[in-house]
Amino acid sequence: MPYRLTVLGTGYLGATHAACMAELGFEVLGLDVDQSKIDMLERGELPIHEPGLEDLLRRNLEAGRLRFTTSYEEAAAFGDVHFICVGTPQKKGEYAADVSYLDAVVESLAPYLDRECLVVGKSTVPVGTAERLAEKLVRLAPAGAQAEMAWNPEFLREGFAVKDTLHPDRIVLGVASERAEKVLRDVYAPLGEVPIVVTDFPTAELVKSAANAFLATKISFINAMAEVCEVAHADVKQLSLALSFDDRIGGRFLNPGLGFGGGCLPKDIRAFMARAGELGADQALTFLREVDAINMRRRARMVDLARGLVGGSFTGCTVGVLGAAFKPNSDDIRDSPALDVAVTIGQEGGAVTIYDPVALDNARRAHPHLGYADSALEAARGADVMLLLTEWQEFVDLDPDKLGAVVSARNIVDGRNALDAETWRSAGWHYRALGRP
Ligand code: UDX
Repeated sequence: MPYRLTVLGTGYLGATHAACMAELGFEVLGLDVDQSKIDMLERGELPIHEPGLEDLLRRNLEAGRLRFTTSYEEAAAFGDVHFICVGTPQKKGEYAADVSYLDAVVESLAPYLDRECLVVGKSTVPVGTAERLAEKLVRLAPAGAQAEMAWNPEFLREGFAVKDTLHPDRIVLGVASERAEKVLRDVYAPLGEVPIVVTDFPTAELVKSAANAFLATKISFINAMAEVCEVAHADVKQLSLALSFDDRIGGRFLNPGLGFGGGCLPKDIRAFMARAGELGADQALTFLREVDAINMRRRARMVDLARGLVGGSFTGCTVGVLGAAFKPNSDDIRDSPALDVAVTIGQEGGAVTIYDPVALDNARRAHPHLGYADSALEAARGADVMLLLTEWQEFVDLDPDKLGAVVSARNIVDGRNALDAETWRSAGWHYRALGRP
């Protein structure tokens, strides 16, 4: 392999990118400023839950293709291509994204860059960031213009991170030179036939914001239909199914329910609105404010349905909650709709007991005042109402009779439209779902 790669930041994105690039045969050095994270990764342990990733990590550590460090000096000396994979969280009390971690990476790395290299941003950023960082890079690097910036947004989904990285739908390359394009084409060549869109910095940055805005809009669209279905006594699940057969619409991201959460979609649409506003195009994205509002209203509606089933108040009620992660196959609880609902019910006086197959520790740390159980059955014990808030397969496979034997009343609200209503009803459950009669 001609190039040696570094991956700067080893969160969901960085850990996945580092292990996958090593799997493709590259020598990879992962860097993080958090020594405890680096210690774990060096032992072959992941600080996160991501199916398939730990195997990849171990295999490539053992093969000697993958190493980790906290030293920018070492990373600069090692790498020909440096991928920046740090987070861009929402600023406290504002819509805008906090890009300070990206600036910190460039400021830490650049002073050691004394030869030709490419620095590639993968993080989701407000449009204009790449251009600004490119100038900073050239200014701070002893190599000057030999240290070049490129932008290569990442579209991976948590839970499918390895598959999405090794088999991407497309690759977007925001480049300022033919050299940068060639280097990145070489790096991704082992992936085989993948559509590659080569463009400028702002377009590359915007592709990511637009993709996430579209996905969020699609989810909120079907959830808006759910609101209408609720008052019209119609069934949004059948409506969604019928829409999905239209090739122009498609069925993916059309699952009605509790809506979107996680570390990306909610904060990315807000950051996108904020940036468009700064650029004088706020009108173009006012619809995203509605997308956000529809999404948040689903959480309130979920609480209302549950409250209705227990007679109008949670005081003195036991509530069994299935799911804490923002979606299945992830331990990520950032902006988790499930936890948001659980917290609200707790605040309204309900005794909440939560079970999740992998996100329990994270949930417990974030919300120590809520109750937790080590199985779905334990969470259900004595419950006046059960709430399915994250559609783990384990919950879809639950036996309504077994669960029914331990609850105090057979009430369930399916917040993800994941259960078979008839099966549960015929087992004597009072089954309610978002957007369905
Ligand atoms: C998302 C984008 O999909 C990905 O391309 C980007 O790189 C990062 O943000 P991720 O946050 O991992 O990925 O999760 P995703 O699978 O997109 O789900 C986001 C949220 O939407 C979840 O809370 C999920 O439960 C919800 N969702 C998804 C729905 O409510 N309905 C759907 O039909 C699909």
